[in-house]
Amino acid sequence: MASFDNKTMVLCLWLAINFLSTVSSELPRFEHPIRGDQRLKFLVIGDWGRNGAFNQSEVAFQMGRIGEELDIDFVVSTGDNFYDNGLKGEHDPAFIDSFTNIYTAKSLQKQWYTVLGNHDYRGDALAQLSPALRKIDNRWLCLRSFVLNAEIAELFFVDTSPFVKDYFTIPNEHTYDWRGVTPIKIYTENVLKELESALRESTAKWKIVVGHHAIRSVGHHGDTEELVERLLPILRANDVDLYMNGHDHCLEQIGDNQSPIQYLTSGAGSKAWRGDLKGLNRKDLKFFYDGQGFMSVQMTPSDVEIVFYDVFGIVLHKWTMSKQLHDLHPIM
Ligand SMILES: *[C@@H]1O[C@H](CO)[C@@H](O)[C@H](O)[C@H]1NC(C)=O
Repeated sequence: MASFDNKTMVLCLWLAINFLSTVSSELPRFEHPIRGDQRLKFLVIGDWGRNGAFNQSEVAFQMGRIGEELDIDFVVSTGDNFYDNGLKGEHDPAFIDSFTNIYTAKSLQKQWYTVLGNHDYRGDALAQLSPALRKIDNRWLCLRSFVLNAEIAELFFVDTSPFVKDYFTIPNEHTYDWRGVTPIKIYTENVLKELESALRESTAKWKIVVGHHAIRSVGHHGDTEELVERLLPILRANDVDLYMNGHDHCLEQIGDNQSPIQYLTSGAGSKAWRGDLKGLNRKDLKFFYDGQGFMSVQMTPSDVEIVFYDVFGIVLHKWTMSKQLHDLHPIM
């Protein structure tokens, strides 16, 4: 009897370890098949949930118009989904008031792929991750870190808030919901390890990484040093094409001096116009706009076009890039 119990215990332990090692060594994956024509089109918006205020509704209206024109596949949110302090719980009316009832256009009734921002961590962070929200509005999909396979591109979503040391200084003027991410050192090391292996294994033509915090920015918060130190080397070593973020309430594009990576900030979903910029003379700065707006991405296996729009839907900046055939991953 005793030996049976021991065996059972060993077996359980073995199963538990295996289960833990699979969950900790692989990011959740989602597939978003694109429609026939080998084109991927999506919108990127960040820092938005304010019950429609600060031009959130105006930006939403123009997203609907451009979304219709482009016939988008999905929407990406770079986080800070609900101000000021995330959601209070799964039944917080802010979810409907700032999301469902704002992004009402037909073209926006697509899947939204969302990460958490630092403001989301000030509320009940688990509520935003909860499947209960999908029952209220099935467009919603928010996870900490995950991979989205959209055939010609793969998008790697990264939970960046736990990397930022400022949020852990004690005393802190805000409280954060760190349930599920502590101990922080192990959590962040795991995120990087999982991201690195997912990037390495990816055979997508385009690799896009999405996080809330900027790696490079000339806006209010500037560069996020923790990400420059820990995340950027992984992106450079694994042929990432684009890094997309919010956090600074602006629209901007910055190049990288050591790789083809483009840093794209789309964090202008509502309150903007901070007016305090740093390093506007930065050599690799290609575009900066301090006001509200959003970004669109259109891709084929060889070409990408990025467009930034203001609150009136007027095109502020356009950037295109082609990959030479020899840059593309060989087709097996
Ligand atoms: C809304 O957008 C307009 C046009 O950019 C701008 O002048 C105005 O200040 C914005 N309102 C707010 C509250 O940011």
